[in-house]
Amino acid sequence: MSRILVIATRNPDKLREITHLFQALSIDVRSFAEFSHVAPVIEDRPTIFENAMKKAMEVAEQVGHWVLADDTGLFVDALEGAPGVMSARYSGPEATYASNVNKLLSELEGVPETKRNALFRTVIALRTEKSLHLVEGELHGRIATEPRGQHGFGYDPVFELPDGRTLAELEFEEKNRISHRALALQRTKRLMEELLKLEF
Ligand code: IMP
Repeated sequence: MSRILVIATRNPDKLREITHLFQALSIDVRSFAEFSHVAPVIEDRPTIFENAMKKAMEVAEQVGHWVLADDTGLFVDALEGAPGVMSARYSGPEATYASNVNKLLSELEGVPETKRNALFRTVIALRTEKSLHLVEGELHGRIATEPRGQHGFGYDPVFELPDGRTLAELEFEEKNRISHRALALQRTKRLMEELLKLEF
């Protein structure tokens, strides 16, 4: 009988990406949505590391299986790391992707290209019955002066890669090869291969 891994996300795109990546592992990947009794986790910690850990631990306690939880932030040097852990709600409780991008661009108004460095960081927390692991993935770039591109979501239209394209100008597959989340997930996959040998 294979072990169950519950993905603590209600985002169907993330779930699809993770299920696809982990399909070769001898683990049964399940959606959080199948566990309707699980209480929502409030992401109120001061860092994305702590939020990911909190989510993984609280959900694992309720479902009794291995749990994977992630949290992502955009960290801009000229803004001393903002929006960081507040990336989803940067422009307030009713924030949308567009209002967050607008706030970011206005905070950076007048900041020259050479000082617009930024990075995306994803932290993945993996809770097994015996251990808790944290894995991260990063993507370096800079914030453009105006949005470009039609793909992706969130801050993608203003996140410029070293080659000058924004993340929103990349096709889905290309972004999912190089992104902060993809790197963290690939590392998590390798870790799980080892854990499945040790903890089975
Ligand atoms: P989450 O932890 O994955 O929900 O990410 C928090 C916030 O960061 C989201 O609401 C998005 O605004 C932003 N974000 C996360 N990942 C990405 C990405 O790959 N591209 C652009 N924005 C992202």
